[in-house]
Amino acid sequence: MKKRWMDGAGQWVLAASALWLAATAEAAPPSPAMLSNACAGCHGTNGGSAGPVMPSLAGQSKEAIVVALQKFKSGERPSTIMGRLAKGYSDADFAAMGDYFASQKIYVTQQTLDPKRVAKGASLQEANCGRCHIEDGKEGKDDTPAMASQWLPYLQMQMALYTAGMRKMPEKMEEKVKPLSVEDLESLLHFYASVK
Ligand code: HEC
Ligand code: HEC
Repeated sequence: MKKRWMDGAGQWVLAASALWLAATAEAAPPSPAMLSNACAGCHGTNGGSAGPVMPSLAGQSKEAIVVALQKFKSGERPSTIMGRLAKGYSDADFAAMGDYFASQKIYVTQQTLDPKRVAKGASLQEANCGRCHIEDGKEGKDDTPAMASQWLPYLQMQMALYTAGMRKMPEKMEEKVKPLSVEDLESLLHFYASVK
């Protein structure tokens, strides 16, 4: 019986409560590894996420992580969970967590993808997205998040938030995304998810 509580949503709630406790404890400043343990229940022990609707953080740049956390905290970026979590941390905490995850190697996901879409996406990515999602999405310009090997369902969810106007696209990204068909966008996401 107890074990069932740990499944699914229960696990998230537990992870979230642990985080809040950690955030409110008045001890010495937490180490980056300690802070990042509060994230590992969902994002995985090595920054590779525990499930397909959650992004992997390993290998994201510090700037991308810090900016994402600031946007979650301010509410500018919509979220299911991160908005509430980010409120418990300071900019110094964000910087420490950014350093920690940025120092890890990109996590390679094992997922089933449509090879035709992967190929189509590969042919579209450089001209449309490569200016900021550089090196096949293994890196990102400035605060652009890495997308290589990210879970497809996570990328699809974020693209849906963008195209619905709920998450704000950078202007220059919007210029590239708008003219593309739904199918082309889907192919691009398959491509990025496939990069090893
Ligand atoms: C309960 C699960 C959970 C915990 C704990 C959690 N996250 Fe998240 N994280 C998510 C989900 C889900 C998303 C996608 C946005 C959303 O819907 O909230 C996300 C998104 C992110 C992103 C955006 C990544 C990108 O590619 O844009 C960053 C950065 C992030 N989390 C950092 C952290 C850090 C740092 C911690 C620890 C303080 C943490 N998260 C703890 C579930 C979690
Ligand atoms: C001018 C630079 C730029 C271009 C061009 C660009 N992007 Fe982005 N992209 C960004 C930035 C910056 C972010 C993070 C913005 C934010 O905070 O929401 C982002 C985020 C994303 C995300 C969410 C990733 C995550 O981890 O949350 C997806 C998906 C994405 N871009 C897809 C694309 C695709 C597909 C193209 C090409 C059609 C493209 N982008 C072109 C800069 C760019």
